[in-house]
Amino acid sequence: MSFGVTLIGVNMATSGNPFIFGEIIDEPNFVNRTRELSLLVQDLADGQKVFLLSPRRFGKSSLVALALLKLKKRHVRTVSLTVSSYASYTQLLEKFAEKVLRAAGPWERVKDWVTRFGRSVKPDMHYNLTSGEISLCLGKGSGFDPAPIAPEVFALPGELTRKAGFRMAICLDEFQQIAEFNGRSVENVLRNQVQEQREVGYVFAGSQPALMKEMLSAKRPFHKTGPQMFLDKIPAVDWKEFIARQFSKRGRTLHERGLESLLAAADLIPFDVQRIAHELWDYAELRGKRALDASDVTSVADSLIAGHSTYYELLWEHLSARQRATLQALAERGPLEIYSQTVRDEFRLGPASSVQKALQSLDARDILDRYKGRIFFLDPLLPRWIRSKVS
Ligand SMILES: Nc1ncnc2c1ncn2[C@@H]1O[C@H](COP(=O)(O)OP(=O)(O)O)[C@@H](O)[C@H]1O
Ligand SMILES: [Mg+2]
Repeated sequence: MSFGVTLIGVNMATSGNPFIFGEIIDEPNFVNRTRELSLLVQDLADGQKVFLLSPRRFGKSSLVALALLKLKKRHVRTVSLTVSSYASYTQLLEKFAEKVLRAAGPWERVKDWVTRFGRSVKPDMHYNLTSGEISLCLGKGSGFDPAPIAPEVFALPGELTRKAGFRMAICLDEFQQIAEFNGRSVENVLRNQVQEQREVGYVFAGSQPALMKEMLSAKRPFHKTGPQMFLDKIPAVDWKEFIARQFSKRGRTLHERGLESLLAAADLIPFDVQRIAHELWDYAELRGKRALDASDVTSVADSLIAGHSTYYELLWEHLSARQRATLQALAERGPLEIYSQTVRDEFRLGPASSVQKALQSLDARDILDRYKGRIFFLDPLLPRWIRSKVS
């Protein structure tokens, strides 16, 4: 009897791969970021408009998801939209309205909004009684111009909170993509509306820091709209503690050198740390291995690279000769001396201005980005693949 109980207990604690990537992280598996989390929760509860910036896969969406969950527990109504998911400005506005209405529900409270909304445009709105889902169509046809009704849509959270006596927190994720929809006019309208909304906190999370910084610069509408939060990498000590704990909890060990090699292979990018750790876990499971070291990490990284080689080949084929040379130089020599005469000669990069152009184009293609002023590969395994090709 007690044997059975113990077994269940052990299974619950040890089953499954403890490393999660490409998904939102729940609180028990959330590493570090306690300061950022409480700051974000407080700012959103206060109705601030926060800009959250970092390169891709540093943990913005995970941080926001957890902040919204905490706010929900405090009875704040929460809404989350990923701007890049939508194909048009009209669709973004429709989803924004739908999600805000749903969060502000019940239906009885929000249905009046439809009758008040828009003198010229009446949205076509449907309410599913069983699921509680609201769906909305603002206008059909590719010629439909949503710009005239955008202010009313973006004013919605303010209207609903003012009358209903609750607060709201709204996340617009991948916010840099807003520029794809009507450019500056969206920025203007949205800025004007959100500034009026005292009861509504906003977090605008953006994955291309350069684009986001431009959006927050002096001549643009969002300049000084609210605090900016730059998400750093999570320090190595925290990762080491987390990974070692996950391993030891399940009767495995990853030696210090292995931990270091894992973090180096991932370039401390949260997504890649979890991805490599996840693969390492599966690798250990498959081989029934209890103790792992740096050579195991190398095998895992190599097999990940092998698995991606078709994708890497395709990417490489679509690059210009100068872009390839620049990436080779970066993969071999690192970012610090990329402009030096020696490196430019060795890799036949041409004048510094050409290098700069190549770097810019690789940044625009989401192959490179900058962190603390330094260029890095968004995919930390790509430089390893590049090196392996030439050697
Ligand atoms: N605080 C964290 N603790 C543990 N893992 C994290 C954390 N933040 C991010 N990650 C890992 O990185 C992955 C990508 O994070 P995500 O929030 O989607 O990044 P972003 O939104 O910046 O692109 C997550 O799926 C998870 O594996
Ligand atoms: Mg994200």
